[in-house]
Amino acid sequence: MIGTLQMNHELILGSIDAVAQGSERAVYFHPDHPDVVFKVVVGKDIDPRSGKLEHIALWVSPKYLMMRRSRKELQSYVLSKFAHHQSDCIFPAAEMRGFYESDIGLAVAFERITDGSNALGPTLGQIAETGGLTSNGIKLLNEFVKRILDWNLIASDLNLSNIVFGRRGGVEQFVLIDGMGAPHLIPLRYWSRRFNRRELIANIKRIERRINGIQKNCVVKFNDDQHIFEILSDNTTDKTQPDGQ
Ligand SMILES: Nc1ncnc2c1ncn2[C@@H]1O[C@H](COP(=O)(O)OP(=O)(O)O)[C@@H](O)[C@H]1O
Ligand SMILES: [Mg+2]
Repeated sequence: MIGTLQMNHELILGSIDAVAQGSERAVYFHPDHPDVVFKVVVGKDIDPRSGKLEHIALWVSPKYLMMRRSRKELQSYVLSKFAHHQSDCIFPAAEMRGFYESDIGLAVAFERITDGSNALGPTLGQIAETGGLTSNGIKLLNEFVKRILDWNLIASDLNLSNIVFGRRGGVEQFVLIDGMGAPHLIPLRYWSRRFNRRELIANIKRIERRINGIQKNCVVKFNDDQHIFEILSDNTTDKTQPDGQ
């Protein structure tokens, strides 16, 4: 997992513009590594007066912010891989490709999820904004949900900007690119598969509300019994229902 030591500071990202930015991390491409993205923690709005324990801890020790993100991601990734290393079900998250020391701090490399070109694939949120989440999109989303549940991935931040559409090995799919790991002080999700599954389903249900908040042409519903998204009403011309409905 660890980048080779002779790479120390050889990864220069400071002179490159970030291709994307999340709430905490900037995302970079590097010409020598066309298959990955590098992520560097750049910060988070911290108000120590908010009274939130997390904000106070981060204000006292900013390095904690950088460390805790990678720690929980790595823990979740390694746990899944040990538990399911012979699984024939596609891993639903971007592969971790190691840590690299760069001129702007420790960078973590992830498999780059692209739409076939080298550019980043669109997020689930971007697809919903353009009304693209209709029958085929929902079918792919259901395949993603199934993989997440089959792998019992420990993931706590399944939001619309952390799920990206791309092609892996020629297969169209949604992939989780961020949000692995669980923040809880008592790590029940790591201890109990059942508890983690319940939390995952609760997380996935929240996606329904977020999609319906931004996509206007089509209303979706998460079916609690079957664990699939269904299209309730579709105002687009394509009325084909996804498989399994
Ligand atoms: N491995 C990846 N493949 C494709 N796009 C990615 C990948 N990782 C991040 N992105 C893009 O960069 C954005 C921000 O990255 P993210 O890791 O979510 O940052 P943060 O940790 O700050 O939330 C994502 O919303 C997505 O658009
Ligand atoms: Mg994110």
